Amino acid sequence: MSWRAVLLRMFPEQRRSDANEYIKRFSHVLEDCIALLNPVLEQRRAMREDERPNDVLTLIMSQVTEEEPDPRTIVGTYLLLEQVAQGTTSMTFVHVLYYLVAYPEYTEVLREEIRQVHGDGPISFASLGELRKLDSYLRETQRYSGFSNATMNRFAVQDYTFSNGVKIPKGELVAAVANPIHMDPNVYEDAKEFKPWRFLERTNAEGLGKDSKKYAMVTPAEDFLAWGLGKHACPGRWYAAMLVKHLVVYILLQYDIKLPDSAKGKRPPNLSIMGSSLPNLSAKVLFRRREGLDWE
Ligand code: HEM
Repeated sequence: MSWRAVLLRMFPEQRRSDANEYIKRFSHVLEDCIALLNPVLEQRRAMREDERPNDVLTLIMSQVTEEEPDPRTIVGTYLLLEQVAQGTTSMTFVHVLYYLVAYPEYTEVLREEIRQVHGDGPISFASLGELRKLDSYLRETQRYSGFSNATMNRFAVQDYTFSNGVKIPKGELVAAVANPIHMDPNVYEDAKEFKPWRFLERTNAEGLGKDSKKYAMVTPAEDFLAWGLGKHACPGRWYAAMLVKHLVVYILLQYDIKLPDSAKGKRPPNLSIMGSSLPNLSAKVLFRRREGLDWE
């Protein structure tokens, strides 16, 4: 389903045509971006391939095979990638931030782990990978507040019949629905509770070593669909996980954070769109720089 259809479904049926007219007003955004990026594309085309900057735009340009590619293809792909990479990662981070302030009892546990792993050292890719409590915490936030409920969108290129007899005709779009699995008490004990160490406990209970990735944040599974599953599972998940971990570590070490009193200790409610849980858009979180830190 296109994003326009998703948006329109949020309006009552009798108002959808007005809403559609309104949404159409934004169709100039692609044209605006093309106007902005066209000079950059021209400049890069004039360069030798190995001289072009090593970034995502060059990558997209290198994948387009037409002799004179339509800038819409390149700019559209660029914007799509921005959306799948940035919107998703920032939403995940904001979800985590709201859990941190709503469950302050876990903050010191996380800080203690960070202190043990990092000591006075800098944050590095390797050391972030050793934060097992944080990893479990983040996977639990994704389980509990997944923002991609309809995930694994697939287009049937041929008729397909599942082992239980369900038929998918060629040409149909199908998706898996994540939240009913993430909230299924047969799959997750106390599924309606936010239990940040759940996945670490599973790892320990199954006697898996500390290097096991079975329940790691980045590991897709049939009962954990935050990254989708299979061949098309999110290829950006290692990067996204590292980014979110880095932000959380930095914030926990540098700042005390809390909800304003007006929130009465309640996590800002998620915004539910077609079953997906988006982080609250208007909630406030208070930050105060911690004293006496020499950490960067
Ligand atoms: C926390 C952040 C993110 C979440 C929760 C997320 C989630 C997802 C999900 C659910 C899918 C669909 C997978 C499927 O159909 O099986 C997906 C696909 C994809 N994601 Fe992410 N993503 C995140 C960050 C990123 C980042 C940072 C990038 C790029 C740097 C990225 C690039 C992609 C791409 C290119 C696809 C399409 C893969 C394909 O169809 O083969 N994502 N992501």
